[in-house]
Parts: sequence; structure tokens; C-alpha cells
Amino acid sequence: MFGQDLPTLKTEIPGPQSRAYVDRLSTTECPAITARRARRSERSGVDQDPIVWAKALGSNVEDVDGNIYVDLTSGFGVASLGHANPAILSAGNDQSQTLLHAMGDVYPSNIKVEFSEKLAQICPGDLQYSILGLNGSDAVAAALKTALLKSAKPHIISFEDSYHGLFYGPLAVSGYRKSFREPFQSQLNKEVSRVRFPKNEGEISVCMDQLEKIAKTKNVGALIIEPILGRGGEHVAPDGFLTALRVWTQKNAIVLIFDEIWTGLGRTGKWFACDHEGVLPDLMCLGKSLGGGFPLSALIGTPDTMAGWGNSNGEAIHTATFLGHPVSCAAGLAVLNLLEKEDWPNTVAQKSVTLEGLLMKIVKKSEGKLSLRGRGYLQGLVFSDSTRVLALVDFLREQGYLVLPSGKNAEVLAVTPPFVISEQQILSFYQCLNQSIINFW
Ligand SMILES: Cc1ncc(COP(=O)(O)O)c(C=O)c1O
Repeated sequence: MFGQDLPTLKTEIPGPQSRAYVDRLSTTECPAITARRARRSERSGVDQDPIVWAKALGSNVEDVDGNIYVDLTSGFGVASLGHANPAILSAGNDQSQTLLHAMGDVYPSNIKVEFSEKLAQICPGDLQYSILGLNGSDAVAAALKTALLKSAKPHIISFEDSYHGLFYGPLAVSGYRKSFREPFQSQLNKEVSRVRFPKNEGEISVCMDQLEKIAKTKNVGALIIEPILGRGGEHVAPDGFLTALRVWTQKNAIVLIFDEIWTGLGRTGKWFACDHEGVLPDLMCLGKSLGGGFPLSALIGTPDTMAGWGNSNGEAIHTATFLGHPVSCAAGLAVLNLLEKEDWPNTVAQKSVTLEGLLMKIVKKSEGKLSLRGRGYLQGLVFSDSTRVLALVDFLREQGYLVLPSGKNAEVLAVTPPFVISEQQILSFYQCLNQSIINFW
């Protein structure tokens, strides 16, 4: 049944229809976005176009040539509850029949109120006041503005290899790939210091010393961190690090921002990655799976931190045409209800043991060539060399499995399936990986 199928391939990958669409796209879309064939060829020696998606349901994607894949990316982490989850889809569809669009900050919709209440209810501690957006970048930008208003101190600390989005504010604090920032450096916020993300408990004190040093010379008002570096390669913050950051930021009146856009909403086997250590931030960013496929993100903060904005004086100084879009809010409400009612964070904690165990088997077989990082359904198989990962990603796609590279140099195979993936789909992916991996390490 489509949604839970194993791969079925009818053409070479990419097929003729995919190639034709990509050729057409290259005549209308900005070339920096579509010029994939050349980049792939240059970096991995594999000359290949992307496939073009036509349909998706559950853990399956079908391309324009009718090839069916198992999606182990969750479509950038969006389809945690499966592509086109029926309950989310019907909430969005119903909402679109009644109120498709409202007026953000001027005339909000009833569904925005309901969604915001639910969001406050499922978020930990006293995270309560939100600013909604459509992309992760929106939530991060809102967090940076909030931190400045609250602290009145301009400097921001972030981490090397962190990824917070590519709009100007988030781009300035992102550590991932200098090449993303370099062309825009002249227009990026210069009030940013980046420190190394500690890779083990021993590195925590080195990092804390570095933070102290920065705070001596800069007027630091915010610290932003992903509790697990997502795009940066599934590095989990070592035990005790988030607590140390909480203590240090509190002592120095610095706003602590957790970017849980990748890690939040059940992906790591708890509601939020920070729950593993029981640490609360002042601000938390959510996105990706929040709208279940409809564009939705949120910054949520404590009353004290959000008080930095003051009250509305009749004209919002932060808003957007589509802020609190009714259809996205309806879908988001359905997502949060499903996560809660079906107890997905717990289910992920239990189900992901199988995936982790299988990947560990491969690690053991590799005799030191590979290692595994991550938590829950955010796993990364670490290689010594990026070209192999890129070639493996292409090979797996040719076998009907969609995965993405991650890590500083694309040295990690990220395995981040939808929560609804079946055991059979996981097993078949493992078998394919296990048989072929020897050619790639
Ligand atoms: C941790 C994190 N923050 C922010 C973003 C940016 O989100 P968006 O691409 O929706 O702007 C991403 C996207 O991958 C992310 O992983």
C-alpha cells in the first residue's frame, strides 16, 4: 500500500521525466538553486540530476516517472507524522473551506488562538508567548529580535557548524559552511562570535572558558544553540552542557535560545531535545514538522523574556502578511493533538531502538571506519570522507531510499525517517545499506 511500500523502481534513476523537468526548471529558476548536476559531479564524481517528486504519502515518495521511494529524510524533517497525514490534511482542508486567510496582527483568526494555546500547553516550563512564522528562519529572526529587546545588549554567541536558516539574521549566526555567509558578509550582522560546539564532556570547560572570555570584551545579550547539531552532523550536546549554559546565561543576564526546529516535537524520543537534560531556555524556536507539511514555525518564550517587546501600541513592530496563517494553524493544531494523543515522543523513543541497533551493527562491522551519533530518529552515520557519503546518497536513491548528507564536510549520512515508518521499511533500508556500504567506506 502506497505510504508503507518498499521501493519499486520502473526506470533508471533519475528517469526521463525527472530529467526533462529539471531541464525545464533550469530555464526559469535561479541557477544557483538548480545547478545540481555540475555540483554533484564536481564533488562526488557522480553526474546526476535530482529526481522530481510528484506524490508522497506516509513514508513513501513517488517521482514523476512513477518510481516509489522510501523517504528516510522526512522531507527535511517536516513529515514526522508521515507525508500527507490524513488527520493533518483534513484539518488544513476544512480550514481552507471556512477561513483561508486572516490579517496577522490586525484581525487574527480563531484558529490562531486555539493553536497558540495548544502550543503553550505542550511546551515545557513557562514557555507561553509565541510569535508565529512560516519558516524556521522566521522563528530564529524573531528570537534574535526578542533577545535584543530583552537584554538591550547586541552581541550574540552561536556555535560553529550550527544551522539556523539562511535569511539575513539567522545566516549571520549560523556557523555551518562559511561559503553560505561569505557572499553576503558585507551586509551581515557583525555582532556575532562563534564558538566550537563541545563534542564530549571533556570539552565543556574549554567552551565555558571561551564564553567567559567573549563576555569580557563583548556586550553579550543572546546565546543560540541547537541541542543537537542537525545539518551540522547530528552532534549531541554532551551531558551537562545545556545545564552549564543555563547557569552561565542566567548569571550574565544573557537570553538563552534553543533552536529546536530540527530536534523538537518528538524527533529525539522526547517532546524536545532539551527535555533529555531537563533544561529550559528563555526562548525556543520550532518549525519543520510543526505544520505537518503546511508552512508554520514559532518562536515561543517565557513571559519575562517576551516582556522585552512591551505592549502593542496599535501598530505591531514585528509582523508579516501571512503571520498566523489559518490553514497552517489548523494543521499545526492537528499535529500537536496527534503528537499528544498518539504519544509519538514515547513511540519514537521505543521504535528508534531498532534503527539505532541496526546502524550500530554496521558500525561494528566497519571496524572503526564508521561511527554513529544522534538520538531517536535523528541519527547520523559518520564516515571519514565526504565524497563517499555523497556517492552513497546517490547510490541509495538508485535503490529507492532517500537520505541526505549532513556534517561540516558532508561526512555524515543522516537517517531521519518519518515516525510512521514501518519496521519492514527500516529493515529493507538496512539490508540495502549493509550489502553496499563496504563499497563506500
Ligand atoms: C536547526 C534549524 N534551524 C533553522 C532552520 C531553518 O529553517 P528553514 O529552512 O525553515 O528556514 C533549520 C533548517 O534546516 C534547522 O535545521
